[in-house]
Amino acid sequence: MAEQSGEHPSDQRLAEIADTFFRPPVRDLVPYEPGKPVEEVQRELGLERVVKLASNEGPFGPFPAALEAIARCAPELNRYPDGGAYRLRAALAELHGVPFEEVAVGAGSDGLVDGLSQAALDPGDEIVCGWPSFPSYVIDARKLGATPKTVPLREQRYDLGAMLGAITSRTKLVYVCHPNNPTGTMNTRAELDAYFDGVPEHVLTVLDQAYFEYIDDPDYPDGIAEYLKAGRRVVVLRTFSKIFGLAGLRVGYAVAAPPVVTALGKVRRAFDITTPAQEAALASLGDIREVERRRLENAAQRPEVERILQEHGLEPATPAVANFLYCDVGEDSRPLFEQLLREGVIVRPTHGFGGPTAIRVTVGTADENAFLGEALDRVRGTVATAG
Ligand SMILES: Cc1ncc(COP(=O)(O)O)c(C=O)c1O
Repeated sequence: MAEQSGEHPSDQRLAEIADTFFRPPVRDLVPYEPGKPVEEVQRELGLERVVKLASNEGPFGPFPAALEAIARCAPELNRYPDGGAYRLRAALAELHGVPFEEVAVGAGSDGLVDGLSQAALDPGDEIVCGWPSFPSYVIDARKLGATPKTVPLREQRYDLGAMLGAITSRTKLVYVCHPNNPTGTMNTRAELDAYFDGVPEHVLTVLDQAYFEYIDDPDYPDGIAEYLKAGRRVVVLRTFSKIFGLAGLRVGYAVAAPPVVTALGKVRRAFDITTPAQEAALASLGDIREVERRRLENAAQRPEVERILQEHGLEPATPAVANFLYCDVGEDSRPLFEQLLREGVIVRPTHGFGGPTAIRVTVGTADENAFLGEALDRVRGTVATAG
């Protein structure tokens, strides 16, 4: 009979499974540490209000049409999703003016980083990325016994020239995190052009544009239109997790040459993208005005958060072009993170991203950002600014 309490009786012990059972790369892996959830902080610290500015989510919920789509498909959740995500892929292909065979969907763009790693990396192969940067590039390579070559940022931006220098005959994937998470900084079109002119033919570049829709800098290239379609060996990653407000549903996509899409299809799990995720993503594509509203709101609030941070002696990396800011505090950033936590503000200490002396702050609503300012007042006091 099934146990009622969910606990094992004390006289029954589980089988022992030794560490050596697991593959060495997995044994040594440090898993991705997610941002703290609001409920956990509320429960642990007994706080009335907690504001999460820790995971670069958009501060607004799913689009109205996405909420309707989720409700519409709920009664049929006894059915498996469309494994091929046909309608979503077709809509994305049309949106970007590419053939259906050039679009792959994944459980978030993170799922696609995992898929690309599985499809391309053997033990001993190498990937190159900047550092500090998005940890999945490194973790997913390590899982497979591949070697990540991390290239230090230069003035808090990807150093594409140095990355070219780090490529060897074993390099399979080069990640360009654009803009870079956690610093929020980007490379110019001229820098990317020069990179693509110099990158050897055996390398596949992954241009991660998770924050694409937020960016209005005219020097920020559209990887699909400007590099993929121009014949560069590139995979462009996008996601519904950020401006579209669907982080909890896990849906992202890659646009790439058909052999890459086919390979991703071979390694992914059959039903990775749930029906609500597919339907909500599809419904979100129709609302260009809401994307624009959110972009403008973020563009108005980001300088405000910059000002708040500076007012408290924190200097963000600039220019930051997405919905988050990175502040190197010059010492272990965990104490500052803990202090802000006790004031009800969750920011992100970036140890796992290779930035142990920095925090990353996601841009919230005007009200959330003001709450951050008040918390910083109590934690750090106001610092007199020059001029
Ligand atoms: C640069 C970058 N790439 C990929 C992701 C993964 O996003 P998701 O898996 O939610 O699409 C993130 C999320 O924070 C990110 O910052």
